[in-house]
Amino acid sequence: MPRINKTVVLALLIAASSVFLLFQLYYYRQYVSKHGTVSNSKAGQKGSDAQWQVVKKFLGLVSKYNLPVFLIDTAVLGLLPLDSTQQRDSQAEGPHCQTLCTHREFTTFALLAKLWKYDASLAQAAAERGLELLEVRGKDPRLVGLDDLSGTEIPLHFLFRRNGHAVHLVVFYERSGNYLWHGPLRLKPNMDRKFVPFRKLDFGRQAGAYDRPELVVASLDGLDVRIPRNISRFLSERAQARFLECRYRDARAFYQLYPDDTSPEAMDFRMKAKSLLHLAARTLTDLGVPFWLSSGTCLGWFRQCSVIPYSKDVDLGIWIRDYRPDIIQAFQKAGLPLKHKFGKVEDSLELSFQGLDVKVDIFFFYEEGDIVWNGGTQAKSGKKFKYVFPRFTLCWTELLELKVRVPCETLDYVEANYGPNWNIPVKTWDWKTSPSNVRENGVWPVREWDEVIQVY
Ligand SMILES: *[C@@H]1O[C@H](CO)[C@@H](O)[C@H](O)[C@H]1NC(C)=O
Repeated sequence: MPRINKTVVLALLIAASSVFLLFQLYYYRQYVSKHGTVSNSKAGQKGSDAQWQVVKKFLGLVSKYNLPVFLIDTAVLGLLPLDSTQQRDSQAEGPHCQTLCTHREFTTFALLAKLWKYDASLAQAAAERGLELLEVRGKDPRLVGLDDLSGTEIPLHFLFRRNGHAVHLVVFYERSGNYLWHGPLRLKPNMDRKFVPFRKLDFGRQAGAYDRPELVVASLDGLDVRIPRNISRFLSERAQARFLECRYRDARAFYQLYPDDTSPEAMDFRMKAKSLLHLAARTLTDLGVPFWLSSGTCLGWFRQCSVIPYSKDVDLGIWIRDYRPDIIQAFQKAGLPLKHKFGKVEDSLELSFQGLDVKVDIFFFYEEGDIVWNGGTQAKSGKKFKYVFPRFTLCWTELLELKVRVPCETLDYVEANYGPNWNIPVKTWDWKTSPSNVRENGVWPVREWDEVIQVY
């Protein structure tokens, strides 16, 4: 009797899980057909088919050349279940193309340049498959710092076109700091401006930076395609991927006027600032707190693509809405004890952590109408200060081999803080009077001092 019971239970379990699986499959189909763009019209079907065909031809080429590509098309990824580790299988019967056919004029893939070797026969092989190829090159930013090599061009984008549909292949280069970068798509005068609707493309208007995604193979409409494992992460990175190159040429001009300090002290500071910046970045990133280079560290990046050796600390900005009380513990755990805490979450919060000889100052920024500001506090007098900036958005850049954010409108930010003469080094700096944007902001009431002035 117990034996039978076991068998029955097992059978029931199997039946139940199959029903669940079927339900999932059903739900997924429903989801795709509701959100997808499967059209019943003949014309739609034809367009779909052309889109599927160009992707199929492209994947044939990919497999022949062993191209390390993965799908980054925002419309297709947007149709797939997010964050799911399960097998993605939207195999359609017959000619139906449920996921890949977005009814857009293009489908976007990324090529991992590091794992790829340029082969000039690619164009010929593409042509044999009926794919017209347009290659768009641009400057290699990794060489811009080197006088004689700057201007070297590398392939940044490939477009494969067939029957009114295209595959846009964006080349992702690995840069120091271990992140992926793609360049902007800039057409040369002799190029066919109508090759694809360039303005509609998802990638290429601006340069972008990404963490290297983990990839999985998915079967989409009968085609095996590699896609980012965590789709929602990729899509949210994509929404704020804009990358700014440092102004290497201007930095060189700056160093012509003001030669770099190569004293042992300056070298030592640079090394310590670099490791402190990396440690602070890792700590904040683990907490999921976005930050950007502020004050002197931002000026150093903008003006000289480096840190200013006499600046003595590393300055970071964080939106107050991203504040988390465990930031302090996390820094302490990373070996950076709290040095001071000024202000409070509702007003003028500022944290400072002590590294090896160098400290990291974290300024919290408050949004108010069309300005943003951060606060300052003088410990001995309880005086408050306010530093006002025009609103800005955030971009990625690279500093000291780290992918890091800066205000995209960097000139406005730097000018607000340092005035129109920011390009001239100033070694004597008083944070209470020197900044162009400092305003006196009253005094903390004495009864609050214990809370808003903490020095360790
Ligand atoms: C995907 O990435 C997001 C962050 O963007 C994270 O919160 C989530 O846990 C990740 N999902 C998986 C399955 O790793």
